[in-house]
Amino acid sequence: MNLLFVASEMAPFAKTGGLADVIGALPAYLAEAGHDVRVVMPLYDTVDTSKLTLEAVGDFAVPLGPHRYSARVFRKTGNAPTVYFVHCPELYGRGRLYTSDGDEHRRFLALSYVALFICQRFEIAPDIIHVHDWQAALIPMLLKTLFAKEPLFRRTRTLLTIHNLMYQGSFPVENGPDTNLDKYSDFFHQDLMKQGRVNILLQGVLYADGVSTVSPTYAKEIQTPALGGGLDGLLRARSSTVVGILNGVDYKEWSPETDRFIPHKYSASDLSGKEHDKQHLLNQLGLPYQKGVPVIGIVSRLVGQKGFALLAKTMPELLRRLGFQLVVLGSGEPALEDMFGSLQRAFPRQVCFYQGFKNDLAHLIEAGADMFLMPSVYEPCGLNQLYSLRYGTVPIVHRTGGLADTVQTWSPSTGTGTGFAFEHHDEAGLRWAIQAALATYKKTADWDQLVQNGMAADFSWQTQGKLYELVYKRLAQS
Ligand code: ADP
Ligand code: GLC
Repeated sequence: MNLLFVASEMAPFAKTGGLADVIGALPAYLAEAGHDVRVVMPLYDTVDTSKLTLEAVGDFAVPLGPHRYSARVFRKTGNAPTVYFVHCPELYGRGRLYTSDGDEHRRFLALSYVALFICQRFEIAPDIIHVHDWQAALIPMLLKTLFAKEPLFRRTRTLLTIHNLMYQGSFPVENGPDTNLDKYSDFFHQDLMKQGRVNILLQGVLYADGVSTVSPTYAKEIQTPALGGGLDGLLRARSSTVVGILNGVDYKEWSPETDRFIPHKYSASDLSGKEHDKQHLLNQLGLPYQKGVPVIGIVSRLVGQKGFALLAKTMPELLRRLGFQLVVLGSGEPALEDMFGSLQRAFPRQVCFYQGFKNDLAHLIEAGADMFLMPSVYEPCGLNQLYSLRYGTVPIVHRTGGLADTVQTWSPSTGTGTGFAFEHHDEAGLRWAIQAALATYKKTADWDQLVQNGMAADFSWQTQGKLYELVYKRLAQS
């Protein structure tokens, strides 16, 4: 099939979270499976182009209502998939991927238009345009309006994948003309317009031929008021087309046998390297290593979604009473950064908070920690718990979304389970899960079994990618 991906992140070029990992891996899998795959993404000024071979393939004028942009498109040569980078410094030269600037919607409307212009200029007729999150979610509607007569798109179907429903691309209706869809005002959600807003993700949910999200549980949760972000009614109305496909893992990047960022490689049959990685990790972070003292790791965007507010009260008491160590890598909301900063100051021998974004350290924490904590309020899929499983690092999670689908609580009586999942997002839940994990850690035979169970789990793209191929086929035939 001819597949076109449009997304705002792709590893290794531009990453703030798991979306980048997915776009870095799924298209590559699909290309290997024999499809013709292209990805369109912005050429942010943060993309390191020094190791890329880029070829300018065309210049495009991009009118968005009264605004005029010009974009130069570069094609990356080399391994499949083909990546088209959209270069427009005025929009993508902001030193970071996302902003809260007044033209944020235009930054990604431009991306969406250029993706379609590329198809026209190079006569690409995609069977599927696979759009990701709000940043590309206007494309389905563009195909049904301005581009409805374009013969290249006659057979094109669209799949919208929602990686996180809480980011919707909502902007004031006064900027509505920036979509170039004035003539089609009937196509916009009318009540919302009366409230003065246009919501790009919502328009995507209305017009995409298929809607998917990144785990079966989250696919159900987004159809409830609690986690539906105001779109649950629309998602319920389309529930026959809403599917949940768990993300895969790029085991070429994330395996302790081959990880280039960890000094000591190891595998399920010989875990001795893991203890050395732990020593190395603690050493790097200036924490004392002591055999038998467990290390809990966190690697995360520090935002409300990730649930760390629960730690503020519980952690000091748990650290004092149970004596484990905590290693945190992340950045984000100042209040959460402050909380981890004060934990570090209060427990200098037990806690290290590395503020920032650092891929090699993320790998080292996966390898060197004994446990990995993800107390997310909601989690569409979550990738770190999947990486943790492969690294023999036992996940402690809130049972929500993709975390519920991928981590089963350890049962000593049956020897089954891969981690610890607490039911209710409250301090008692978190305390229970951490205590249960630490108690199990002391029972060496149980812990070994638990680690082995996790390392044996398989979430490869070979399996998950096939599920996307089935959805594409079904859409193409519809
Ligand atoms: P989300 O996409 O919501 O942030 P995921 O668990 O799906 O959550 O993916 C997070 C990805 O981003 C993982 O690959 C993780 O290692 C990476 N990541 C998050 N924060 C950092 C950080 N501070 N430094 C390095 N990598 C990070
Ligand atoms: C989002 C979600 C995360 C998911 C990732 C990739 O950022 O928050 O749960 O794993 O997208 O799909």
